[in-house]
Amino acid sequence: MSSQVLIDRRLVAGRETDGWAPARELPPRFAVDAHRPELAGGFPRDGLRVAAFSPLGNRELKSVPDCRCSPLAGSVVGMSLSYEFTAPRRIVLGSGRRKDLGTLVAPLGRRVFLLPGSRVLEQHGELQGAIDRLRQAHLEVIPLETVTHEPTVADVDRVVTAIRSHQPQGTDLLLALGGGSAIDLAKAAAAVVAHPEVEGISRFLEGTPEKIELTREVLPIVAVPTTAGTGSEATRNGVISSPEQRAKRSIRSERLLPRLVLVDPELTLSLPPKVTAATGLDAITQLIESYISRRATPLSRMLVLQGLPGTCDALRTACREGGHLPSREILAQAALLSGLALANSGLGLAHGVAAALGVHADVSHGLACAVMLPAALRYNLDCKTDDLATLSWLLLGPTAESPRQAAQRLIDTLEILLLELQIPRQLRELGVRHEQLPDLVRDSRGNSLNGNPRDVSEAELREVLESVW
Ligand SMILES: [Fe+2]
Repeated sequence: MSSQVLIDRRLVAGRETDGWAPARELPPRFAVDAHRPELAGGFPRDGLRVAAFSPLGNRELKSVPDCRCSPLAGSVVGMSLSYEFTAPRRIVLGSGRRKDLGTLVAPLGRRVFLLPGSRVLEQHGELQGAIDRLRQAHLEVIPLETVTHEPTVADVDRVVTAIRSHQPQGTDLLLALGGGSAIDLAKAAAAVVAHPEVEGISRFLEGTPEKIELTREVLPIVAVPTTAGTGSEATRNGVISSPEQRAKRSIRSERLLPRLVLVDPELTLSLPPKVTAATGLDAITQLIESYISRRATPLSRMLVLQGLPGTCDALRTACREGGHLPSREILAQAALLSGLALANSGLGLAHGVAAALGVHADVSHGLACAVMLPAALRYNLDCKTDDLATLSWLLLGPTAESPRQAAQRLIDTLEILLLELQIPRQLRELGVRHEQLPDLVRDSRGNSLNGNPRDVSEAELREVLESVW
């Protein structure tokens, strides 16, 4: 006797018959372990088998005798098998790979506008090293100003003016060497440069009245991240602050996906502990939120399954011992995979509130995500117990506890991690005043919140914010 699974847009299962199994939706955990019969849910507890899911064979039927239960096996249940996936055209990751910068960039153009995002890189010779490698590959390099903060409308417009003063041509490209801020700035500048009739970035930003679409090809964007956090190197949007309007808005287009991403974890070795902690927690938040997002797909979830393990330990180590390369490598890959995942699945409550915290209390993105993550997961615990249990087992190792206990253990562990990394636990410690909560509620309702697996009313959001204030 065995159980079968038919994959036909939605997963269905039943007892073995001569033909296809009768259409019947699986319980949340459908894989069964002989050692954990309680996981059998509503199925007979003897002789059940695990059905292998093959995204390639859409109607493939497999029965895997005596397969151990994996909580991961049930993760595609109920998910639509109709989706899209976008990613940068070429991704290169590896310690020391920045030595290949020139040869990787050379096929993309002849002249490079270089946007540095960190003065530390300059002090450590990394900026000059990048310029030298590009010039050795016979590329002309035009360094632009260094912008170290989250980019504003004025920053973008200034960079665009600088690029336009050099009469940009089709053989030019834009290279961001920095954190998410530098990469976002490069994306926004590339968009405006492609539309000479448009004066500045404001008209391209979401939420702007009479917003215009990005209709032309942009200069190829090369992203060389020097932090391990935002994942901006893998996404199609750039976040730009508009201080006058007290808002952070995105420019979003598939044309803004970097043509080339070069991730060299060695570039993050000099990051100070505070930046390491905030960016690393941003990546962890992105991985978790994209996994439980209501727009998650099997493909985006696979990235999380590879990206999340080891991140908590790596973050602890990298904050304590900045030069620990293996930890930096884990975090660099986690950030990259989180960007690929979130670009295709959306995020959730923590990121929704983080945007508002940046606007109203000037809290940096990573810090805001970190403070909000436990509260966001508690809010989603009931509707995403199994998924959070899966991530818990993945991150912290398997145990004999129930899915609910495992999910709770994940939240507890993240709270302890915040304590260890000296991340404030309350919004008031970040300078948020209680009378600002209504503003935060109003301005948290952006794109990220739409991905949250559980609906969030204004009253519920207020309650969440009160709990963490
Ligand atoms: Fe983020």
